[in-house]
Amino acid sequence: MRVLGIETSCDETGVAVYDAAHGLLAHAVHSQVDIHAEFGGVVPELASRDHVRRLPRLVRRVLAASDSRPGDIGGVAYTAGPGLVGALLVGTAFGRSLARAWGVPALGVHHMEGHLLAPMLEPDPPAFPFLALLVSGGHTQLVGVEAVGSYEILGESVDDAAGEAFDKVATLLGLPYPGGPALAALAQRGDPGRFRFPRPMTDRPGLDLSFSGLKTFALNTLVSGERDERFRADVARAFEDAVVDTLVIKCRRALRATGLPALIISGGVGANRRLRAALADMAREEGATVSYPRPELCTDNGAMIAYAGCCRLAPGACEPRRFGARARWALEELKPPDG
Ligand code: KG4
Ligand code: ZN
Repeated sequence: MRVLGIETSCDETGVAVYDAAHGLLAHAVHSQVDIHAEFGGVVPELASRDHVRRLPRLVRRVLAASDSRPGDIGGVAYTAGPGLVGALLVGTAFGRSLARAWGVPALGVHHMEGHLLAPMLEPDPPAFPFLALLVSGGHTQLVGVEAVGSYEILGESVDDAAGEAFDKVATLLGLPYPGGPALAALAQRGDPGRFRFPRPMTDRPGLDLSFSGLKTFALNTLVSGERDERFRADVARAFEDAVVDTLVIKCRRALRATGLPALIISGGVGANRRLRAALADMAREEGATVSYPRPELCTDNGAMIAYAGCCRLAPGACEPRRFGARARWALEELKPPDG
């Protein structure tokens, strides 16, 4: 089965074609960074309007790149939540209209299930069961994954998501939106020994996380110094080290507690090079395998939605007539696909 995937949950328009027999055939992402940069964050209404503008062209491009005609597409998957409702509704309406016109089933996909399954798009995909660290702009979760649709949240952030903390600290550092990659680039030039930030919630048992205190710590450190380039780079490095270390500690704890043999990392912060390297080292020490998607499939994209959709559409899933986009949607509500 060949599935067209559409992602419009936030500020990236992603479209892809995934084929159950041949893998990912084509994917394209349009980033709205330029639109939102002057506001320092995502403006939901502008995001929705740009998705409307971009989708038709992107779909045409991806169909051509994958050498697919509409008759080759057996189903359409679109992100139905969680995310910005207006933005989600654009992909939902567009995806369902295409499916109706083509006479194929449509299915709303959970955005975090997309992230969670993204490593399956790589050569040598992980085998079930595994531990997933989902680190995006809206979520930071440790998930026990039994199979597609069988998810147990083992721990999650009690406040800010890791990506949100990256973005907020980047703003404090005077970096442009989107902050995560900019902060990581600045941290490259930082001295790891100058400041030491706390590793939140690592001194007590459990797998929950907290990142909002690091933002305050960064603010307090910043007001104490010169704010020149060197000082800002040192603060960026201390912050990044604290996030990476905290995630490593919690993932190690989760691997030991569950005995799961494999770790996967996905979501935008999963593109962070220092995090990828540190988690790979830790997993090796714990005797677990580690997989993560290439960075462009860690951040939002249509490929993960096409893949997750295919896992459900192929065994026959199809949405009822009534549909809606969901700003909030717990991953644990999902069920395995009907076989
Ligand atoms: O998964 P994603 O593309 O969108 C959401 O579902 O939220 O994640 C976006 C988040 C943003 O907070 C962004 O700053 C962060 O991922 N991010 C990074 C890096 N690349 C993206 N954070 C740290 N280092 C990076 N290299
Ligand atoms: Zn995402």
